[in-house]
Amino acid sequence: MKRFVMKGNICYSNENRELCIVENGYTVCENGICVGVFEELPECYQTFPCYDYTDKLIIPGFADLHVHAPQYSFRGLGMDLELLDWLNTHTFVEEAKYQDLAYAEKAYDIFAEDMQKSATTRACVFGTIHNEATLLLMEKLENAGIKGFVGKVNMDRNSPDYLCEVSPEKAAEDTEKWIQEAEKFENIKPILTPRFIPTCSDELMEKLSALQKKYDLPMQSHLSENFGEIQWVQELCPDTAFYGEAYDKYGMFGNGCPTIMAHCVHSTEEEIQLMKKNQVFIAHCPESNTNLSSGVAPVRKYLELGMKIGLGSDVAAGSSLSMFKAMAMAIQCSKLRWRLADQELAPLKVEEVFYLATRGGGEFFGKVGAFEKGYEFDAVVLDDSNLRHPQELGVKERLERMIYLADDRNVIAKFVNGNGFLRDKDGIKRTFFG
Ligand code: GUN
Ligand code: FE
Repeated sequence: MKRFVMKGNICYSNENRELCIVENGYTVCENGICVGVFEELPECYQTFPCYDYTDKLIIPGFADLHVHAPQYSFRGLGMDLELLDWLNTHTFVEEAKYQDLAYAEKAYDIFAEDMQKSATTRACVFGTIHNEATLLLMEKLENAGIKGFVGKVNMDRNSPDYLCEVSPEKAAEDTEKWIQEAEKFENIKPILTPRFIPTCSDELMEKLSALQKKYDLPMQSHLSENFGEIQWVQELCPDTAFYGEAYDKYGMFGNGCPTIMAHCVHSTEEEIQLMKKNQVFIAHCPESNTNLSSGVAPVRKYLELGMKIGLGSDVAAGSSLSMFKAMAMAIQCSKLRWRLADQELAPLKVEEVFYLATRGGGEFFGKVGAFEKGYEFDAVVLDDSNLRHPQELGVKERLERMIYLADDRNVIAKFVNGNGFLRDKDGIKRTFFG
């Protein structure tokens, strides 16, 4: 089962973040796992079915390390505020609607369909505080063929009455029920999701920490995104030296608990050192950080320090699910940061953002994000023939143009852990190979 060969221009990052390209080469999938990349197809694989994408680009699927599914409905709206006012004015109002399952059904159908059409194969997704709607979201993403994590959001303070868990006890009880019900999913797994420190009481964090240990779960949250937010955390947690310590205090900051922190725009040296030590993943969300005027994270510094880092769309503070856009904006934001704020950190390069969107973020999901032996076989086939050019371009130039110019229409096939999806006239439909 799931044994096949793919032929085409294969592009992926190696562990040194260098771009590897094999022109009109072969990659082989066996039981959902990549066997390797070959210039000539070895004899032993010549009996496998071959999907011939000669001259197309074949890249690993993208990992979106941070996206809010319920916010997809108001993407592109209400970008005139900073984080805390944006949450109160737009975000909480929208998220409250997911109490209504009929609304969730419609909204999550749209989200899951658009995820399926995208070049993203892996995602870490926030839901809302509502158990039923979050289980529905998990089911829809599973049916869309995406692999990854979804979190029921926890928030029990500093939140409007209409979107606030009534007590830490009830929040923990609901969360445990949700974890148990979520066991039925194969490819979408639960992730603990305290929204951020300002909306989570000490008692709630303690209870989530106990659940984390009991069920051995990963966790995701927000960190050092916005100056107002950071100052508020300092006031709420006077006993902590920096924001990240407010998670670490509960054992929920890496170190055996696989953790993703979105943003890390304004992390202090101490915070950075603890993230590095505890192998906390950073979800860099350049579009969100621009739209909410949060700032620009020092991504080059994080890369130089060898930290775990990938990209996030952060819809709806980011307007788009496109990881192509996230890559282009990561480069653009790093250039403005370099020009306007800090000449010490050189702008990011194409190879580096491609690494972040594939192998860097993919690592959170295991061996994911590259065409190397033993990696789960996630692949996206890109047809760039609509981007006409008077001369023939090299594969690297074509990949570079995709980063700036591609959208879902360039995705003609997608494979997640060896399961294939082919485009037909309605979009992308699931077909199994092998
Ligand atoms: N911090 C707490 N909640 C949110 C959210 O929904 N989006 C972003 N960007 N930051 C947050
Ligand atoms: Fe977010």
